[in-house]
Amino acid sequence: MTESPAGPALEPLPGLKLWPGRLDAAAQAALRDAVRVALGTAPPYRPVTPCGRPMSVRMSNLGPLGWVADRSGGYRYQQTHPATGRPWPPIPPLLLDLWANHADPDRPPDACLVNLYGTDARMGLHQDRDEADLTAPVLSVSLGDTALFRFGPAEGGPTRSLRLASGDVLLLSGPARLCRHGIDRLLPGSSRLLPGGGRLNLTLRRAG
Ligand code: SIN
Ligand code: FE2
Repeated sequence: MTESPAGPALEPLPGLKLWPGRLDAAAQAALRDAVRVALGTAPPYRPVTPCGRPMSVRMSNLGPLGWVADRSGGYRYQQTHPATGRPWPPIPPLLLDLWANHADPDRPPDACLVNLYGTDARMGLHQDRDEADLTAPVLSVSLGDTALFRFGPAEGGPTRSLRLASGDVLLLSGPARLCRHGIDRLLPGSSRLLPGGGRLNLTLRRAG
């Protein structure tokens, strides 16, 4: 096993749990390679928001269901890639193990959103609420350049930020399941994991 020992999580909000450096260098490289192969049949694309704005993050999905957005249908999960019409590739075993260890050993994830950030990409503050069961946690794995992750309580109020570095694992659970969150910016050059830089974020969910 190439994961680092889990150790105790940091918990900047109740239910928002961070395991810094959870994946060691070998596990990060293995996951990067597995995702790269999967994206060969599920090419990343830039979704367009319902109001017609292309997102700066390129996206794809792994697993039975994938999160998509477009002008006509809004935000939703579907079984196929919007451009190829093919089913999404399977979720790699390393991610399923992380979910079993940190999220829910009894109910596996059925969706993994793949977010690819170029140097200038960002993601506005939002809540993850397109899933059928909003009590099931969301588990996020970061690879590549460090990101400034902004978060605040679901009910509103001040936000704070933390750094998500390559190999970090973050859980949105319990009272933080619906926390507001987004990515302010990347710290370019902070990792050499991805050729050409940038960031790869994998977000596991129970969507259906
Ligand atoms: C997301 O909210 O889907 C992604 C957050 C991240 O990139 O860390
Ligand atoms: Fe999100």
